[in-house]
Amino acid sequence: MNVIDAIRARRSVRRFQKGAAIPREDVEALLEAAMLAPSAVNSRPWEFYCTDSAERKAQLMAAHPASRMLETASWAIVVCGRPDLQPRHGYWPQDCAAAVENILLRAVELGYGACWCGCYPSEPRTGDIRAVLGCTSVPVAMIALGVPDEAPAQKGFYDPERATFL
Ligand SMILES: Cc1cc2nc3c(=O)[nH]c(=O)nc-3n(C[C@H](O)[C@H](O)[C@H](O)COP(=O)(O)O)c2cc1C
Repeated sequence: MNVIDAIRARRSVRRFQKGAAIPREDVEALLEAAMLAPSAVNSRPWEFYCTDSAERKAQLMAAHPASRMLETASWAIVVCGRPDLQPRHGYWPQDCAAAVENILLRAVELGYGACWCGCYPSEPRTGDIRAVLGCTSVPVAMIALGVPDEAPAQKGFYDPERATFL
């Protein structure tokens, strides 16, 4: 699959085939894509928490008010920032966002659906998710991953009015 094909095919999927098993190796393939993302001064200021536990997913859902799709998702992947690894710059949320997008695109290639659920800088969800994970890093985004049970229409489009050529 070409990069542009994956970009065009990506959608936020919010309904999944409940109980569908996604092997850990596939999740690791997503994490490889995530960790190949660019980062400021190559600081790689991220870490990833992955769970397919129904109990953990329920806890994460309770901590994030717009993550109901975790009810049917196979996995939750939480992308967390490590500002401590980038003490002289404040780019870590951007680095984490690049990692998130790589995960979403690799998921398309593997035939999965996903939805980006924003965490940082919204409170109390960021702190609540950190408490669920028991981590000291900063939850930037939670990704619901599963086998799609819906085919949402494309929302993105090229808008020439947003482009300025100087
Ligand atoms: C930073 C960010 C935070 C988002 N947070 C949520 C969220 O909490 N819950 C949700 O259902 N979708 C969330 N989304 C998904 C957007 O709603 C979605 O990308 C947008 O509606 C465009 O649809 P598409 O992804 O299918 O192109 C988020 C997307 C981004 C980039």
